[in-house]
Amino acid sequence: MSKKSLIIITGCSSGIGLALSQKLIEKESNCVLGIARNWPLEAENFIFQSLDLSKIDRVKEIHFPDLDEEYGAIHLINNAGMLGEINTLDKIDLESIEDVITVNYTAAMLLSTKFIQKYQNSPVVKSIINISSGAATGAYASWANYCASKAALEMLSKCIELEQKHMEFPIRCFSIAPGVVDTKMQEHIRNSSLGNFAMKPKFEELYEKNELYSPVKVAEKLIQVLENSSQYSESIFRIQIEG
Ligand SMILES: NC(=O)c1ccc[n+]([C@@H]2O[C@H](COP(=O)([O-])OP(=O)(O)OC[C@H]3O[C@@H](n4cnc5c(N)ncnc54)[C@H](OP(=O)(O)O)[C@@H]3O)[C@@H](O)[C@H]2O)c1
Repeated sequence: MSKKSLIIITGCSSGIGLALSQKLIEKESNCVLGIARNWPLEAENFIFQSLDLSKIDRVKEIHFPDLDEEYGAIHLINNAGMLGEINTLDKIDLESIEDVITVNYTAAMLLSTKFIQKYQNSPVVKSIINISSGAATGAYASWANYCASKAALEMLSKCIELEQKHMEFPIRCFSIAPGVVDTKMQEHIRNSSLGNFAMKPKFEELYEKNELYSPVKVAEKLIQVLENSSQYSESIFRIQIEG
């Protein structure tokens, strides 16, 4: 019998994280531990942990499960993310700034560190996937804080990958930009005001031309990485979906 895989996914309640959770639990040998504020689904092989990732003291307290001999792989997918207020810094509300950097970067940093410390010496297949964005490397006016948080997350991924190369039981670490995906985050972009976000028409056009990626297709690509992590020489890339 094939060994089980445990997959920890943040932001499991919507968009890419929900599609990933739904796809992964189709396979009986997968167990998903989903983290979010809203409970998304019921299934025998899905465990929900309610957690607000902006509350850093709560994130520090999280306990990842012990692995028994049934398990052959464990993965962490830092997927939860938020754009926050879409506005230029001369007008942005100071109150909105902290949560973006905390949810998109600090929580992912803490969870990655806890994951590494808990499972480093386990000989099972291990990987961390950080969900990045084109905004990690491309600057967008009115998304300053989001861009900065994704750039930080991408650099974290590079550092983890470098550190792990020298370990006896290495953990692969990927930074994967999913493309422009049809989720609530895109709705939030289309609902922004043109006065605060000059690039809004570009995102409206992608939506109107039906050019957004489907969360299910993105989830399938991410699962390919999870299931074949040792075959990927690159650890930083953008998902491409044909047709
Ligand atoms: N959609 C795109 O075009 C696109 C493009 C590039 C990158 N991305 C990245 O893809 C990832 C997933 O985004 P999505 O498009 O699927 O967006 P989404 O549908 O808005 O989902 C965001 C997820 O993050 C969770 N989340 C947000 N704040 C949280 C908090 N304080 N505590 C716990 N969970 C929190 C939400 O859960 P709760 O609300 O239940 O807590 C939700 O499950 C993000 O990292 C995003 O930056 C998306």
